[in-house]
Amino acid sequence: MDEYVVIGNPIAHSKSPEIHAQFAAQTGQHLHYDRLLVPLRGFKAAVQVFQRRGGCGANVTVPFKLEAHALADQLTERARLAGAVNTLKFEEGRILGDNTDGAGLVTDIMSNAGQVLEGRRILLLGAGGAARGALLPLLQQKPRELVIVNRTVAKAAELAKLFVEYGPVRSVAYAELDGVFDVIINATSASLSDDLPPLPVAVYGGETLAYDMMYGRQPTVFMHSAQQHGASVRDGLGMLVEQAAEAFQWWRGVRPATAEVFASLRQQLS
Ligand code: ATR
Repeated sequence: MDEYVVIGNPIAHSKSPEIHAQFAAQTGQHLHYDRLLVPLRGFKAAVQVFQRRGGCGANVTVPFKLEAHALADQLTERARLAGAVNTLKFEEGRILGDNTDGAGLVTDIMSNAGQVLEGRRILLLGAGGAARGALLPLLQQKPRELVIVNRTVAKAAELAKLFVEYGPVRSVAYAELDGVFDVIINATSASLSDDLPPLPVAVYGGETLAYDMMYGRQPTVFMHSAQQHGASVRDGLGMLVEQAAEAFQWWRGVRPATAEVFASLRQQLS
């Protein structure tokens, strides 16, 4: 049986085994997908052992995405630019690295939420790893402009510089934000501590989609606030499922359907 794992620390909470089991059943693929808890200093050794045992691929989550990027023998362009890897494929003794997070986000926004990105104004909150991973896939949709805003302005400026050759991207401070945005994506970790990025209310319009990469039982404080200011809102559960679908396709060459998997995860959360 073809073996896959999701590697992280902690890992018990990961929904990936369940998602990939559903994809496998649906597409008739014979594979086994498990969780692999790895000590903080044991990532490389654990990957090598799994690879030698004949493992076919792995997802990588916190805190190992940067190490996975360093370990891969070959990277996709989006993984190279993301500076992080969430999917590994083992092929003829080589380790290939991809990053499917940004593509998962874009697919969820466009295919599931039905939001057009081409020609639109996009605001990206945050300048950490989550924001960086989203930049290339977002710019590939040809938005009118993509504005990165971050508390630490220098980090946003660095990211904008890194991606400027891929599309109309710039950085600002929260206090400098002006005008309504069509899509606002929260890629900060603020929701984890029930904090709200200091956004002026003028960024919201009646047509705005406010998207939080986080998800949980309740809407995040960001979603709550955006809704109060007239925006429609969406959490990151769809991104989770779509990044998994993208990884599954890369490994198996088959694109799984995501709607039922999404619905069952949502039901478990409620
Ligand atoms: P990740 O890899 O999940 O992106 P990270 O690299 O630690 O995590 O980045 C966290 C991001 O959330 C940063 O952009 C951070 O802003 P700073 O760079 O200014 O620290 C942002 N962030 C965290 N808490 C925030 C808050 N309460 N309000 C606004 N931004 C916040």
